[in-house]
Amino acid sequence: SLKLTVVGGGSSYTPELLEGIINNQNVLNVSEIWLVDVEEGKEKLSIIADLSKRMVKKAKYSIKVFETFDRKEAIKDADYIITQIRVGQLTMRRHDEYISIKHGVIGQETTGAGGFMKALRTIPVLLDICRDIEELAPNAWLLNFTNPAGIITEAILKHSHVKVIGLCNNPINYYKKFANTYNVGVDDVSIHFTGINHLIWITGLYIKGQSKIHDILMGQSDSYEAKNIPDFGWDIEFLQSLGAVPCGYHKYYYQTDRILDEQLEEYQHNETRADKVQKIEKELFEVYQNPELQEKPKALEQRGGAYYSEAAINLILSIHRNSRDVHTLNVQNNGTIKCLPDDVSIEVNCVVESHQITPLQVGDVSPQIRGLLQNVKAYEELTVDAAVYGDKGLAHQALTLHPLVPTAERAKNILDEMLQMNTNFLPQF
Ligand code: G6P
Ligand code: MN
Repeated sequence: SLKLTVVGGGSSYTPELLEGIINNQNVLNVSEIWLVDVEEGKEKLSIIADLSKRMVKKAKYSIKVFETFDRKEAIKDADYIITQIRVGQLTMRRHDEYISIKHGVIGQETTGAGGFMKALRTIPVLLDICRDIEELAPNAWLLNFTNPAGIITEAILKHSHVKVIGLCNNPINYYKKFANTYNVGVDDVSIHFTGINHLIWITGLYIKGQSKIHDILMGQSDSYEAKNIPDFGWDIEFLQSLGAVPCGYHKYYYQTDRILDEQLEEYQHNETRADKVQKIEKELFEVYQNPELQEKPKALEQRGGAYYSEAAINLILSIHRNSRDVHTLNVQNNGTIKCLPDDVSIEVNCVVESHQITPLQVGDVSPQIRGLLQNVKAYEELTVDAAVYGDKGLAHQALTLHPLVPTAERAKNILDEMLQMNTNFLPQF
């Protein structure tokens, strides 16, 4: 029987996780689910815990659901720990977006200056959680969803002994999308991914072993888009010379002007993604409070992270059963992508066994991919160092290096304003 701990249990996404656990309980045999959160999130946590209990009850399972603010108690002897926290809540996400857009750069939760600031706020907290795991549950697997997931996972890989795996719902949504396009089961779909979190390129697509990547590059299939990203299409000739299918987040790099125009419009109307998500959250929590509700509501699909729990539960199932299945995960590079350092995080296909996660070799990548990949990865490395050591010089270098921030001067202005806005969240600076 398993003890499963959700750090950030009061998240509006948690019911989805509960649904996944319940649907697989016959295999997983979970005995305890611990939902832990911070006291500021007290109200949300109790609403989520109550709904979780109703869901378990409806399924007639004897899983015990605990809610607590005591992180150590929640972590102690856990088998699997899921981190899905948002330091500073949506209020700080909104500031990240607004400060960025105000300075004329992309304002986004994970990409560019917004993701940079989120990393500075979040890394110390995650490393603190890792100290608890090292002490109280050293054998646990940590599944990290906390964004920017690639950067956070890299900080954990570099600065802790925890068995961490970084997760995102993007890859699994591509499997679902292509299964749907070709009208086959998800298990008939194989996708080669190359890259890092929120910057992955599809370099191969196989349906029952037959290569189909050219369908996509010829525009014969529309590409999947998550709810949080503008759904502009791709220029077909551009895709062909790129020779790979970019992910949604590539639009911020390849279609920057267009997105900037759109974001400026949203900014002027107080309608950025953070504003929208705040509204959706409010609605969701109202729905969750309905004592009649015993399942995950449809409304959760408005969030960009929809179906993230499938990625988590499938991974837990594979580890648990030692299935040696392939999952697309954030792990340490160790030579998998040759043009990147060994100790950084990458998002690639991995073979999953109970005792280890092994990335499948990628090797060399084309210059089209390499140029952007190495640039953004170097930015991420500097961001990890800046966050861990509280080094303003490195923070300035990181932001200046980011392809979405044009000059050192602009980077400095953004950095100063962001650090000022975040003083309560930056013990390291
Ligand atoms: C995606 C990403 C997640 C991210 C989410 C944002 O699908 O993979 O990492 O958290 O979208 O969605 P939101 O609804 O918060 O804008
Ligand atoms: Mn993600």
